[in-house]
Amino acid sequence: MTCCSHIFTRKGSSSSATRLKGVDIDISELQNVNIYTYKELRNATDGFSPANKIGQGGFGSVYKGKLRNGSLVAIKVLSAESRQGIREFLTEIKVIASIEHENLVKLYGCCVEDNHRILVYGYLENNSLAQTLLGSGHSSVQFSWHVRRNICIGVTKGLAFLHEEVLPHIIHRDIKASNVLLDKELQPKISDFGLAKLIPPNLTHISTRVAGTAGYLAPEYAIRNQVTRKSDVYSFGVLLLEIVSGRPNTNRRLPVEEQYLLTRAWDLYESGELETLMDAFLVGDFNVEEAVRFCKIGLLCTQDAPQLRPSMSSVLNMLLGEKDVNEENMTKPGLIFEFVEAKDEGKQKGKAEVENTSFLAGSRNQDESSSSGTVTSYATMTFTEIYDRSN
Ligand SMILES: Nc1ncnc2c1ncn2[C@@H]1O[C@H](COP(=O)(O)OP(=O)(O)OP(=O)(O)O)[C@@H](O)[C@H]1O
Ligand SMILES: [Mg+2]
Repeated sequence: MTCCSHIFTRKGSSSSATRLKGVDIDISELQNVNIYTYKELRNATDGFSPANKIGQGGFGSVYKGKLRNGSLVAIKVLSAESRQGIREFLTEIKVIASIEHENLVKLYGCCVEDNHRILVYGYLENNSLAQTLLGSGHSSVQFSWHVRRNICIGVTKGLAFLHEEVLPHIIHRDIKASNVLLDKELQPKISDFGLAKLIPPNLTHISTRVAGTAGYLAPEYAIRNQVTRKSDVYSFGVLLLEIVSGRPNTNRRLPVEEQYLLTRAWDLYESGELETLMDAFLVGDFNVEEAVRFCKIGLLCTQDAPQLRPSMSSVLNMLLGEKDVNEENMTKPGLIFEFVEAKDEGKQKGKAEVENTSFLAGSRNQDESSSSGTVTSYATMTFTEIYDRSN
């Protein structure tokens, strides 16, 4: 920690609490994290050269870098105007550093010098699903059914771990194709825990600012600001359908009736033609029964009422064929068209956010979400800012 002694100052000799620009943090919680100097990261990326830039998210740029010890890393430089404040930044560090799983991206450390807020992750060779599977550009990755099946199962395991094994449980809040990265062997790893919040064990939901990405947002999250593990399950359901179909959740270039993946999947389910949702690339390469089962699981996950959605461990059992998919009372996917349309009118880029609002929720029966029995008033929210950075 010596390199940041000018930032971290102990409040008392016996206390491990430190102050970082007005934010209290227990320094002992950062023990698993390497603290890098800005200079070290600048050298690792050739001065953050554009040639080393591998991505751009809503919070800043991502560079490929090589540390002095030879390790390849992904260096996420949060932009100065990033909405991810220092508290969220530290939350991300603490959360990721404290957990390890083969389907979660490894955080190596961070840099918190001056105004710089930088995260250093293990580098994943095969980029994100958004770029390789759903992107318009060329990708050398061949997404056979075997590969897709493995990705679906890996993401499920990673999320089940966050939801059910880590204590207190962790809600990811931004499950989407660009947050699923692939390693050399095409093993999936969930990234970006910047939005994750720890749920205190006695609460089943936390109400907070909506900060997911349009297209993956559960209705109760987008409209009522309620985030539960079941809102992650919804986003996962959308992702599952994207992986199987090889198309993004919204595609304006398709005929109107096919533009929304969830609507399309439901229509095909009702007409008993779900196998036609499969990516054309897969023709002849998949087990129809299994692929249709995956689609049905995606539909179970995206039901409007959160309590009808399965837990992630249950999803895992169903994907593996160890548990039947109970579709008897399956209901139509919850969709937030108003939200999507408002977003398009805004034509802005960035996070989907709902703040200080007074927008009247379209559907009253959406109010049954909280399994804690917490009574919530009908959503009265205004979209102060709607950004979509799902493209
Ligand atoms: N560990 C990593 N290894 C390799 N590439 C990465 C890594 N982390 C991020 N990237 C690349 O950088 C891109 C941008 O990532 P970033 O997380 O900043 O944005 P995003 O996922 O598109 O949106 P969000 O800000 O919501 O996470 C990713 O899509 C991916 O292509
Ligand atoms: Mg990301």
